[in-house]
Amino acid sequence: MQAGEKNYKRYTVTSALPYANGPIHIGHLAGVYVPADIYVRFLRMTGEDVIFIGGSDEHGVPITIKARQQGISPQEIVDKYHGIIKKSFEDFGISFDIYSRTSNKIHHETASEFFRKMYDAGQFIEKTTEQYYDEDTGHFLADRYITGICPVCGYDQAYGDQCEKCGSSLNATDLINPKSVLSGNKPVMKETKHWYLPLDQYESWLQEWILEGHKDDWKTNVYGQCKSWIDQGLQPRAVTRDLDWGVKVPIEGADGKVLYVWFDAPIGYISATKELTPDWEKYWKDPETRLIHFIGKDNIVFHCIIFPAMLKGEGTYIMPENVPAFEFMNLENDKISTSRNWAVWLHEYLEEFPGKQDVLRFVLTSNAPETKDNDFTWKDFQAKNNNELVAIFGNFVNRTLVLTEKYFSSVVPPQGTLDDLDNATLEEMKQIPGRIADSLHHFRFREGLAAMMNLARLGNKYLTENEPWKVFAVDPGRVGTVLNISLQICAQLSIVAEPFLPFTSARIRKMLGLPEYIWKDATLLNWLRAGHQLAKPELLFEKIDDKTIETQVQKLLDTRKGNADADIQPHFIAAQASDISPALPEIQYDDFIKLDIRAGTILEAEIVPKTDKLLKLKVDTGLDQRTIVSGIAQYFKPEDLIGKRVTILVNLAPRKLRGIESQGMILTAENPDGKLYFITPDEGTVNGATVK
Ligand code: 2FM
Ligand code: ZN
Repeated sequence: MQAGEKNYKRYTVTSALPYANGPIHIGHLAGVYVPADIYVRFLRMTGEDVIFIGGSDEHGVPITIKARQQGISPQEIVDKYHGIIKKSFEDFGISFDIYSRTSNKIHHETASEFFRKMYDAGQFIEKTTEQYYDEDTGHFLADRYITGICPVCGYDQAYGDQCEKCGSSLNATDLINPKSVLSGNKPVMKETKHWYLPLDQYESWLQEWILEGHKDDWKTNVYGQCKSWIDQGLQPRAVTRDLDWGVKVPIEGADGKVLYVWFDAPIGYISATKELTPDWEKYWKDPETRLIHFIGKDNIVFHCIIFPAMLKGEGTYIMPENVPAFEFMNLENDKISTSRNWAVWLHEYLEEFPGKQDVLRFVLTSNAPETKDNDFTWKDFQAKNNNELVAIFGNFVNRTLVLTEKYFSSVVPPQGTLDDLDNATLEEMKQIPGRIADSLHHFRFREGLAAMMNLARLGNKYLTENEPWKVFAVDPGRVGTVLNISLQICAQLSIVAEPFLPFTSARIRKMLGLPEYIWKDATLLNWLRAGHQLAKPELLFEKIDDKTIETQVQKLLDTRKGNADADIQPHFIAAQASDISPALPEIQYDDFIKLDIRAGTILEAEIVPKTDKLLKLKVDTGLDQRTIVSGIAQYFKPEDLIGKRVTILVNLAPRKLRGIESQGMILTAENPDGKLYFITPDEGTVNGATVK
């Protein structure tokens, strides 16, 4: 509990229930499960009463589509992936108190009762509307059963509930040129009845609870998304669907209808708690319980607006105290994608890096997408392993234990008189657990990890400055003191590393012969008494060589090639360092600001006659509309360029190409293989926006 905050007796920590329609990858771990696990492990060590809830989300259209594609039942799909996902979590030390699933009977009962209670209290609006229907297959086309062009960004594979390109939340009727996923046909409209949660009626309460009540303690990204939703005005939202896979709508006249997956899934947190303990109500209904949802940013609206409105409507539940949503982790500068197999799958990682779970946990935490999307690259993975885990953390623990073995037969030597450096080191040690605790209480996991690494750095510095390997010949007693203090640092490391690197923490404790310590012991500084026998030192981490990393990069390059062959849009991947063109000589800022670069849009594009490289483009620069001739025809088809956002150098002196005056230059990025890509300004930029 933090000073000035409300008093809590216990914590309920949930982590988003992943869809059981595929295995999980590093993006899942980085954005939800590793931070949630660090938080929970830390709370447990501080003696809090905490439950950590997880489970598979086993309903929803993507699962039925996958089952159809594979010619098996949805139940077979979820059975397969639930098993794989659950095992990956266990392998990576994600310490759920329960990992349940929404196809369980207890969940169906809980979700039905929840709906029924709200229904009986008149909390839904019953509405008959026309919805898209596939006449060939006899299905209403909810959510992902329908695709079309996104009215917001023009992406042509947008789903009936969401555009994955621009993130807009959509209704199927918003789509331009809608198509049935089942038959590829144009759907017709047909009447159907559904139940709607009148979110508009919760608007003023949400305003007060979130916009006024959580302005200062919710993350900016979460608060900002909620504010934008609420400011736009909330609409009633259908909470039922025409589908045969899901929780049946538990009322008369609702045959063939199930609860919307986003209605039943968050109730899954409650059913899992019921399954865990008969005492479940105190974790969901006692105002002295702190409810925290760990989720990815695409789940914000469901956890901050819709689920709270459901909880409020039902009437007996507490509200989430915080929803620390993470941004996304990309892979080698490209969005992780299951369909393009652009991912590092956890089960594959473990086959290739057996026993190295903590290395991945470390890299994902130090790069955690806390405030913005971040990137996982294999080169960075290697660097973090070799330069931090091996060279700093592992090196310190190993040096300490090896020296103690060499000089004192692995028996803890006594502390003699302490000098200034000893006292300063012990003083610094005392501060570290508090700093980590403060970071974790505020969901700043990268900062917490950095503070943990500073302890290892402190240890290395202490050893290096004292040079026990030189001093032993002249003053073995002093070396005893130095190693005693170094061993206390190792012990403290094993405690404060536990939330981040649980496997490593356990190995250090084993080598030191220490019991499980709790967090408040972290400041004791005297865990190891003189005379205590230590076990044999073992290396905690090992270097990862270039060849191993190249194999991983090659695997991704092969994926990209496979995607290109299959005509799946190719994407960027980190090139081998040797392929990258060398840096140019330094320039002054004054040279740079002479370039007038603007965001713009291509309006027209045509091949310059009798050439195969040149395109004549008409562009809107925000300042004017002008002609630019660009040597990009080998890489882009003119018809694909209309409407394309680009960056343009607008003050380049005009020059004539094939008789046409070109008034500027479109900026492109050139890969080592010569292929060109546009530098596309982010959404939100207007034509004429200056690039600096
Ligand atoms: O986005 C997803 O993967 C969803 N299956 C998350 C559900 S979270 C909760 F509500 F169950
Ligand atoms: Zn879109």
